[in-house]
Amino acid sequence: MCDHRTVGTTGRRSGDATAAEVVVRPYESRDRPQVRHICHVTGYMGEPVDWLWRDTESFAEHFTAYYTDAEPESALVAERDGVAAGYLLGCVDSRRAWSPAGIFGRHFLRRGIGFRPGTAGVVWRSFGDVIVDAMRRRLPPASVYDERWPAHLHIDLLPSVRGMGVGAALMHRWLDTLRDVGVRGCHLETMGENHGAIAFFESMGFRRRGVPSSAPGFRSPTGERNTVQLMVLPLSTEGRGMPEEGRRSRT
Ligand SMILES: CC(C)(COP(=O)(O)OP(=O)(O)OC[C@H]1O[C@@H](n2cnc3c(N)ncnc32)[C@H](O)[C@@H]1OP(=O)(O)O)[C@@H](O)C(=O)NCCC(=O)NCCS
Repeated sequence: MCDHRTVGTTGRRSGDATAAEVVVRPYESRDRPQVRHICHVTGYMGEPVDWLWRDTESFAEHFTAYYTDAEPESALVAERDGVAAGYLLGCVDSRRAWSPAGIFGRHFLRRGIGFRPGTAGVVWRSFGDVIVDAMRRRLPPASVYDERWPAHLHIDLLPSVRGMGVGAALMHRWLDTLRDVGVRGCHLETMGENHGAIAFFESMGFRRRGVPSSAPGFRSPTGERNTVQLMVLPLSTEGRGMPEEGRRSRT
């Protein structure tokens, strides 16, 4: 089908896969359980997040539910051997996305995440961090929405398909879609300590905006607080296929 594109035929290899074996295609509802699984096993800067937030259901709900359930037309998957091995979950107008605080509240009340072993810690630490940040006047911004980059995305790949152009293929397809519908720009948030992801996003034309803000509840395995880095990409709708700044840097 014309909507299914192989990532490449260069034979770039990662682990036991080659780029030519991976197909980028639109998300389908049958992908939902695998998308949620990938979200949890890559949830800490590409590593499993279960040591920090064990409850897959509430973690995946935070980072995937809006995109799979309310805006599935903006989601893409990278499929290998008939199964999704990665995804890009997009949102064209971030004002429509569900509020993280609302999702958190629902899971606190209905799923009891404040009392679930392996997850309660991050929940109560979040409350504590917010209080400390408020006292120090270092609360993260309530919203990072800006009409210059109204769209946003999440992207995660299983380790077996990283480093061979799959992320770039997903990203180019998403950015082409945004240009096609005339969206002015795109932003994303990633952990300030996720240096590999930041390098990837910079190679796609995104630029860091502002200093990293706090990520309430999140800690490194050695106990340091994690941060969140906002990255932005203004888009030109005149040309297609490559981010505006990326085009400049590649000429
Ligand atoms: C980040 C991620 C999406 C990148 O996708 P990918 O398929 O591995 O990246 P690509 O092979 O398409 O790389 C494209 C370019 O990005 C850069 N890049 C990618 N990963 C990089 C890394 N770890 N360190 C430095 N640069 C990197 C390179 O410049 C690369 O170009 P090159 O191959 O010509 O050198 C993927 O590795 C991933 O899912 N990682 C774990 C989850 C994660 O951190 N997600 C982001 C959370 S917001």
